[in-house]
Amino acid sequence: MPQVHVSSHPLVKHKMALLRDQRTDPKKFRELLRELSILLAYEATADLETEEILVTTPLGQSREQRLRERVGLVPILRAGLGMVEGIWNMMPNAEVWHIGLRRDEQTLEPIEYYARLPVSPTVDLSLVLDPMLATGGSAAAAVDTLKHWGAKRIKFVGVIASAEGMQHLCEAHPDVPLYLAAVDERLNEAGLIVPGLGDAGDRLFGTA
Ligand code: PRP
Repeated sequence: MPQVHVSSHPLVKHKMALLRDQRTDPKKFRELLRELSILLAYEATADLETEEILVTTPLGQSREQRLRERVGLVPILRAGLGMVEGIWNMMPNAEVWHIGLRRDEQTLEPIEYYARLPVSPTVDLSLVLDPMLATGGSAAAAVDTLKHWGAKRIKFVGVIASAEGMQHLCEAHPDVPLYLAAVDERLNEAGLIVPGLGDAGDRLFGTA
C-alpha cells in the first residue's frame, strides 16, 4: 500500500520494544509515546513547504528556509493526547484541534462525543494523531469529520496499526497517507491489537 509508511528507524524500533513491554509504567509510557510521536511526525512532515528568508548571523547574511505551511494537530481523545506535546514542541506554531471518539464496546463502532474545530479550516495540513489503529473506524471517522469541515490535506500519524485497521483507513480515505511505527497481525475479540501494547488510553492515563 503506497500510502502507508512504516518507520524503519532504529530509534523507533528500540522505543517500540519499551512501549509494548507490560512492565513499562505510565510515566515511562507517556515519555516513550511523546518521543515516538516526534520521530514519526519528523517523517510525516518531510514534505512540508518552506520559503526562503534572509538571516543575519554574527558574521554576515545567510539564505535560510522557514516553514510556509500552517499545521494542525488533531488528537483523537483520549490516547491521541499523548502524542501532542512532543510534536507541538517541534512545531510551536501548530494549532491543536480535538476530536473525541470512543468505541461502542459491543459493535466497536466509533461514537463522536466532541469535536472542537473552527468554522472553516485554518491550516494547510492536518495531522490526525492516535497511537492505535485497531478496526480503523475511529481514524476513518475523524478524517470524515475533518473532510466535512473542509480540510484539504490530511495525514494520519499512529503508532501501531492492525493489518485490517490499516486496510480500512486506506480504503475509506485513499488520499490520506499513514505514518506508523508498526503493523501487527490481528485484532482479538475485544477489538484490541495483538500483540499490540494493550489499551493505550489506559496505560497513558493510569486507568487500567
Ligand atoms: C482506542 C484507541 C483508538 C481507538 C482505535 O480508543 O485509542 O482511538 O480505540 O480503535 P478503532 O481503530 O477500532 O476505532 P478508545 O475508544 O478505547 O477510547 P480512549 O482512547 O478514550 O480509551
